[in-house]
Amino acid sequence: MTMSDIFSELKLEVLIEAPQIASRTRELGEQISNDYRGRTPHLVGVLMGAWVFMADLIRNLSIEATVDFLGIQSYLAGTTSSGEVKITKDLDASIAGRDVLVVEDILDTGRTYRYLQGVLSAHQPNSVKLVVLLDKTARRVVPVQADYVGFQIPNVFVVGYGLDYNQKFRRLPDVRHLRNVAP
Ligand code: IMP
Ligand code: MG
Repeated sequence: MTMSDIFSELKLEVLIEAPQIASRTRELGEQISNDYRGRTPHLVGVLMGAWVFMADLIRNLSIEATVDFLGIQSYLAGTTSSGEVKITKDLDASIAGRDVLVVEDILDTGRTYRYLQGVLSAHQPNSVKLVVLLDKTARRVVPVQADYVGFQIPNVFVVGYGLDYNQKFRRLPDVRHLRNVAP
């Protein structure tokens, strides 16, 4: 660890503790299992941020589910997505006729999800819904809503539990506010 790493860890403030994330993820798993009872949802995780959350979510489902991942790169304007998105890893399996449940780390401006809705619906799924760990409602630019939300959070930049700042802090077990970084 370099001095600058140590310094940046000091700028972190825990916003959501690991046990809170675990119990909320359990509730979401139960709710999704009830809502999709008798069906097999197809979970599509959006890389990179969502995989930690998705790994915990799937272990809290009491129904069968299939999984795939979509890799995307958002072109950023500072720390905000510009809405210009590049697919870096396409889906492996067809989603035609499937009940797709997109798994995202965070819904911010909504631009990324709006783009994904277009891409996914072009492949004739039976349904498309969205589950997000975090929702920054105050930041919404595009009027999209998640169907399942872990936590509403204020307008701050967060890291940990899969979320990063320049690829750092994904390993943290909780969600932390990275001070000095504008959202
Ligand atoms: P949107 O298009 O503005 O909704 O951006 C969503 C994406 O931006 C998320 O999937 C994250 O990858 C990234 N993002 C937005 N806010 C944060 C944050 O506070 N920390 C880390 N990544 C974020
Ligand atoms: Mg993301």
